[in-house]
Amino acid sequence: AAENGRQAWLRYAPLPQGHNTPLPSSIIALNSSTNSPVNTAGQELQKGIQGIFGKHLSVRNTGKETSSAVVGTVSQFQKAFGTSPVKDKLEEDGFWLNVKGTTVQILGQTERGALYGAFEYLSMLAQGNFSNVEYAMNPAAPVRWINSWDNMDGSITRGFGGNSIFFTDGHVISDLTRASEYARLLSSIRINAVVVNDVNANFATINPANIQGVGRIADVFRPYGIQLGLSLDFASPMELGNLSTYDPLDPGVIAFWDDITKQIYHRIPDFAGYLVKADSEGTPGPLVYNRTLADGANLFAKAIKPFGGIVMYRAFVYNQLPDEGDWKADRANAAVNFFQPLDGQFDDNVIVQIKYGPIDFQVREPASPLFANLLETNTAIELQVAQEYLGQQCHLVYLPPLWRTILDFDLRVQNQSSLVRNVITGERFKRPLGGSAAVVNVGLNDTWLGSHLSMSNLYAYGRLAWDWTSDSEEILQDWTRLTFGLDNTVVDTITQMSMASWPAYENYSGNLGEQTLNDILYTHFGPNPQTLDNTPWGQWTRADHASIGMDRTVSNGTGFSGQYPPEVAAMYENIETTPDNLLLWFHHVNYTQKLKSGKTVIQHFYDAHYEGAETAQNFVTMWQSLKGKIDDERLEDVLFRQVFQAGHSIVWRDAIVNFYNKISGIPDDAGRVGHH
Ligand code: GCU
Repeated sequence: AAENGRQAWLRYAPLPQGHNTPLPSSIIALNSSTNSPVNTAGQELQKGIQGIFGKHLSVRNTGKETSSAVVGTVSQFQKAFGTSPVKDKLEEDGFWLNVKGTTVQILGQTERGALYGAFEYLSMLAQGNFSNVEYAMNPAAPVRWINSWDNMDGSITRGFGGNSIFFTDGHVISDLTRASEYARLLSSIRINAVVVNDVNANFATINPANIQGVGRIADVFRPYGIQLGLSLDFASPMELGNLSTYDPLDPGVIAFWDDITKQIYHRIPDFAGYLVKADSEGTPGPLVYNRTLADGANLFAKAIKPFGGIVMYRAFVYNQLPDEGDWKADRANAAVNFFQPLDGQFDDNVIVQIKYGPIDFQVREPASPLFANLLETNTAIELQVAQEYLGQQCHLVYLPPLWRTILDFDLRVQNQSSLVRNVITGERFKRPLGGSAAVVNVGLNDTWLGSHLSMSNLYAYGRLAWDWTSDSEEILQDWTRLTFGLDNTVVDTITQMSMASWPAYENYSGNLGEQTLNDILYTHFGPNPQTLDNTPWGQWTRADHASIGMDRTVSNGTGFSGQYPPEVAAMYENIETTPDNLLLWFHHVNYTQKLKSGKTVIQHFYDAHYEGAETAQNFVTMWQSLKGKIDDERLEDVLFRQVFQAGHSIVWRDAIVNFYNKISGIPDDAGRVGHH
């Protein structure tokens, strides 16, 4: 039964109406070597058709094309059959799918693309879609990565699905079955690399024994076309190499990283690249030696360039701000202040990886202005599937609608259309590289993330990283059919719940751009609004008895709004043109300030918290209505979480409304809050 969780959207459950569908009579996989993604594609087609239709097809590597499902690269196909049927241009990782009754062509530009095509065909079949199709698909961007915040001791930073599937006790675990299963899931959503260790990296990850260990992870990833990446500890030359410095310009340090890189590529010839968190939250970095962040990034870029690897250098760099008394102090300013002056100084194989908002994975943030400030630098967006501030998988929060507020945002660089998604793909500023990374943090739990429903976020991340214009609701429906079956009530109910979930969470956890009001000091879970202010973390709300919000204007505040290009800066500078949902992000106002909706800020707090909690309570009855339509085990698992969310949403509601009622002394018009 745990299988349903582990197989996630790749269950290949039997289709009741599928038995009479005409199918290919055999599978031809044009490469039969064990590690090849084309071989994997052949096996996967066999397994899928067996599961969905109960029909066993043999897999060969030659044969007659008619009435077969042929999978391979375009050049393998040409070699075997003399011609290429592909009518559109294929880019790297792209594929061609041609289904004509029982004759099926699945061709990739590379072997990885062929595997993607096989999964695409299987996804159609599993959803009962037997139409003839003929199309090519190409990715929006070459970098479609996952970051895993796994530590060498087996714990996971902000991991909510059990211990690591990669590490235990300081080394790589011996049984990598789960790592292989994970790679299978990821390749089906067209992810092409996973950084397996936490961004707060430990130098021991790259000692000789662990390079062999992570080499074994790369070995189980390879048949799925997934490459391995590693996070680096900037101080490793000292800690591991016994040097007296980690200055990025020191010849000994350069030689150290050249040597490490050689060792890694010796064991892992298809190694993807490095991820670097430096000079952030106490991690070492180039600033220690008065070198620039570009010096730091280029150190690794030069070491890895001869092997074709890349460096993802994180823009999450900030100093703690001890003094909230300083009205102009603002952590949100840090990324642009650090990185904008370096635009043009990063090597071509460096990508600056930017969290979607200027603070830290909050329930609502404006798009990071750094996306508008790096015109000669490759960039990628960093998202979080792990629901760190967003209910930690104990709350249903379907994230694509949140992500889309950022990716579809128009930054108006040089007064021209500059959607964030067109910046990160490289299209807007004509950059050779770009894409996305999501922090996922799956664990040994049979559901991977700790919750069946949270897996829709992982599935959707892959689909969106491939095509940021795909519809959030359609993705969710595909996921639901693959995960829970084709029953329309099931699909409609899960769609309704999921699409209502992020607005509900925002309503009860933090409104109008004031951030997620959870405990900032330790857990990032559950309401604790008083911890946001007067801490060095700088996630301030500046709430007092009369007023609330961060004044981020240029005219009177921290100047953050001025980091955007003129049209956007003007919109946020002016309270009249700032959207309500970001009012308190950009402005400090009285609780009695009127919103565009006509309500006061404080009344909006009260109403929204009641509304959000009510929506979360409805999820319980909605979910219960699915009894008998999905298996009892998953029904009960999810019900447990929904009952928790319903209760916790009331805890959230009451904690927040009472907090603001108490400090403002302003009663609730509806009489729900406080004593009367
Ligand atoms: C968040 C998170 C940390 C993490 C950091 C990062 O602040 O709470 O655990 O290390 O982000 O992204 O580097």
